[in-house]
Amino acid sequence: MSQTVPQQIQKQYADLKRDLERYSRAYYSDDSPLISDSEFDKLFDSLLELEKKFPALVTADSPSQRVGAPPSKKFVKVQHRERMLSLQKVNTAEEFAEFDRRVREGLFGKDDSAGKEIEYFIEPKLDGLAVELVYENGILTVGSTRGDGSIGEDITVNLRTVKSIPLRLSEKTAQRWPRLEVRGEVYMPLADFKAMNKRLSSNGLPNMANPRNGAAGSLRQLDSRITASRPLAFFAYSAHSADESFGTTLVTHRQTLSFLLEEGFPVNTQSTLCRGVEVVASKFAKLTKGRSTMAYEIDGMVIKVNSLSEQATLGSIARAPRWAVAWKFAAEEAETIVEDVIFSVGRTGVVTPVAAFKPVQVSGVTVSNASLHNEDEINTLDLRIGDHVIIRRAGDVIPDVREVVFDKRDGSEKKVSFPKKCPSCAEKLLRAEGEAAYRCANRACPAQLIGRVYHFGSKGGFEIDGFGEKIATQLVERKLLKTPADLFFLSKETILTLDLMANKRATNLLQALERAKGTALHRVIYALGIPGVGETAAVALAEYFGSIDKIITAQLDELVTIDGIGPLIAQALVEFFADAENQAMLERLKEAGLTFPHEQQQTVTDGALSGQIFVITGTLSQPRGVYKKLIESHGGKVAATISAKTNYLLAGEKAGSKLKKAEKLDVTVIDEERLAEMVK
Ligand code: IVH
Repeated sequence: MSQTVPQQIQKQYADLKRDLERYSRAYYSDDSPLISDSEFDKLFDSLLELEKKFPALVTADSPSQRVGAPPSKKFVKVQHRERMLSLQKVNTAEEFAEFDRRVREGLFGKDDSAGKEIEYFIEPKLDGLAVELVYENGILTVGSTRGDGSIGEDITVNLRTVKSIPLRLSEKTAQRWPRLEVRGEVYMPLADFKAMNKRLSSNGLPNMANPRNGAAGSLRQLDSRITASRPLAFFAYSAHSADESFGTTLVTHRQTLSFLLEEGFPVNTQSTLCRGVEVVASKFAKLTKGRSTMAYEIDGMVIKVNSLSEQATLGSIARAPRWAVAWKFAAEEAETIVEDVIFSVGRTGVVTPVAAFKPVQVSGVTVSNASLHNEDEINTLDLRIGDHVIIRRAGDVIPDVREVVFDKRDGSEKKVSFPKKCPSCAEKLLRAEGEAAYRCANRACPAQLIGRVYHFGSKGGFEIDGFGEKIATQLVERKLLKTPADLFFLSKETILTLDLMANKRATNLLQALERAKGTALHRVIYALGIPGVGETAAVALAEYFGSIDKIITAQLDELVTIDGIGPLIAQALVEFFADAENQAMLERLKEAGLTFPHEQQQTVTDGALSGQIFVITGTLSQPRGVYKKLIESHGGKVAATISAKTNYLLAGEKAGSKLKKAEKLDVTVIDEERLAEMVK
């Protein structure tokens, strides 16, 4: 450390660092916080302040490293000291018994193996991404992906942002084993995954396919500040060291896990020791049952021989150890070959790569293609045309490419090149900074128009019976409409010129279009296909404004105050309605005779709170939803943020900035009792 840092500061810094580590571990690994979030933030801020004043203090294990760093150009390769193995797989109790027999024979010889029971350690098989963490003199210095088992990618800065990964080990361990490797799985808890997709959706961004891709994609960010913003968690499942004393100190897998737990690593609590085949099988049945209630995705159970010396005796074959096996849940997965990757353009211009593969049965359904989502996803999977891939369909979920079977590559596979131009209209594709998607910005792009027209008539929108993608495609390709609104002006003669369109169908379609003219306001708003405006936002807008003209003329500062409308959606709305072409389309809808009726859902117009806008803040005696319902059922409205239009702020305990703002804007502040009186 530089001499310019006074001793006393050095000590203060070391103490701060130690405290923060302790609190962080209690919070993220032990799930039992020792101090409040704001106290933690305060300490953290003082650490950052010290580091700013004395940059020489900053070390690799500083908690400040958890916030991420500016982007790097690419990942460098790291060689694993010990190969990172994969696992043999079994699918049935018979296959597991077979594995057990091989283990017994391997340890005791064919003749003496009968009647022996092996002590196994079982763990849930997490569906995330395997990583290796190297601790040198107790400090996390290198973190990497598994890669091909021998060489992975250096994602150290990203792994430092995963809060439950210790940045430093105990003094004792640091001295005993100057180089220690810890391996485990980085994953995204299900609830966080869902919340994250909700957030992406409300910002008009594409969703992540599944938690595993969420974890893998987040870890592969070149900008670790993005990784830091992602809800990643970690479970450690093994430790390795070349040091001789390591092998004599820890002699079972279970001991290794206890050691890891002591060092602050999260270790899966659903793990346990068990003896013999039957017990393992019953544990597997139990895990299968409990699977759907777990907080994270698992795809099976890992069964490991507990004794490390027995593991050593058994050794490994090719890429997998003889002492461990993955017992996978009944197949929702199937293997097939990628024949092509095609690029489809959606209604917002986003270009989505789609893998077309040899048709294959997955949980009873034949599938022949799956979205690859975006370019990053293709890179994360490292998918090439001709690759063998594992397709997965969880329940009734859309099929998804889980992984490439690298072992089956023969060199003939072709890399996927993302098009530079729109496959539909040849416009140059653009990728906005910080976004994974490429977009075609040409509003007249036929593929986009097909998407918009189809969305317009779909469920949630005008819901036009007998109107689907095929008709939308024909109408656009034959230049029979320029905007979705033109649908309402189609004549029977025109409709009859479409393929497979008989008189009866044409009549039905026309009747459906006629009916659609009375579609409710919120559905019309949804049908317009404004970026980020899904059904929830559409309902919120209809409820708040009550008429199409008020929505069209709404200003940004008012839009952002509406519950359920974020700044990005608000911006998209303003842009949409400012656009001349869209204005013309709305005029045309009116011309067609649309009435945009607002179905007064639960809104009461003559209630005690009619016309009053409320904002809710602080801790109240019941959940906020209760008060929201109460206010709305008496005709009031609830907004998310305070503006000059707000009439009342319903404030509970610990009301913060909103209370201050209310006071500044002279908004009446009320409590629960006052609200109860108002509606009495
Ligand atoms: S042990 C030789 N334990 O499964 C030991 N792996 O197919 C190999 N995995 O790459 C790893 N949960 O990503 C082990 N409790 C667990 C695991 C686990 C998930 C993954 C890991 C590994 C893959 C092997």
